[in-house]
Amino acid sequence: MKTLALYNVKGGVGKSAAAVNLAYLAAASGLRTLVWDLDSQAASSWYLHANGEAAKAKQVLAGDTPVSRLVRPTPYEDLSVIPAEFSYRYFDILLKKVEPPREALKRLLKPFASQYDLAVLDCPPALSHLADNIFHAADLVMVPVVPTWLSLRAFEQLREYFNQEGFSQKKLKPFYSMADRRRSLHRELLEQPPEVMRGAAEAVIPYSSMVERMGEHQAPIAAYAPSDDPALTAYAELWLEASKTLGL
Ligand SMILES: Nc1ncnc2c1ncn2[C@@H]1O[C@H](COP(=O)(O)OP(=O)(O)OP(=O)(O)O)[C@@H](O)[C@H]1O
Ligand SMILES: [Mg+2]
Repeated sequence: MKTLALYNVKGGVGKSAAAVNLAYLAAASGLRTLVWDLDSQAASSWYLHANGEAAKAKQVLAGDTPVSRLVRPTPYEDLSVIPAEFSYRYFDILLKKVEPPREALKRLLKPFASQYDLAVLDCPPALSHLADNIFHAADLVMVPVVPTWLSLRAFEQLREYFNQEGFSQKKLKPFYSMADRRRSLHRELLEQPPEVMRGAAEAVIPYSSMVERMGEHQAPIAAYAPSDDPALTAYAELWLEASKTLGL
């Protein structure tokens, strides 16, 4: 099983949208896919109709809940989800108590390896112990970057953090998200990506009302968008690049 994280310290940049759309496309390609919603806002749990009570963070970490009971089906074949719970906001504090501090999440993912080909982690926007666990557990950390200078700077800081903390830069794959070619700054940064975007995905997720409407449809965009929709096409290209990098 490979583990793909959608991460950014910044909020509202398209992590959950990408997690749900990439996971849907992975499942549609026949991979047994598990989304783990690690954000107490529970956006991807909601998009994927994870019904029933979710396990509390404390129970999950203590291993009190059998892992199979954490998983919920979704309306889509080969796609399951571990829903987030409001107590996930304490994940960070709880993780501090686990030894070794960075390895808990990877250990929790292990039992799923026989049943799934891919785990997709939808991450909360914070650079925390949970983030360290995510960076340790993930084979690939995809980072949605809005084409603005502040977003690029935040990503530069993440690269520096990876260096400082000994995480491999090879795990990092940024991609432009919410790109609006009507804006001159977006256009410039897309045409000449700064050095910090080295190794970025070629696929660019456009600013799209079709993506915004995921909330209205409570579904991945492939479930309702026309097959030639530019955002859907971009996610499909992004998934292709991610799957190649992961060797899936
Ligand atoms: N490509 C896009 N075009 C237009 N709107 C988008 C796009 N991607 C996401 N959105 C919208 O922007 C908002 C934030 O998106 P999303 O929840 O995916 O971001 P996030 O990074 O997961 O946020 P958070 O940090 O709060 O978890 C949502 O309302 C979503 O519908
Ligand atoms: Mg989110």
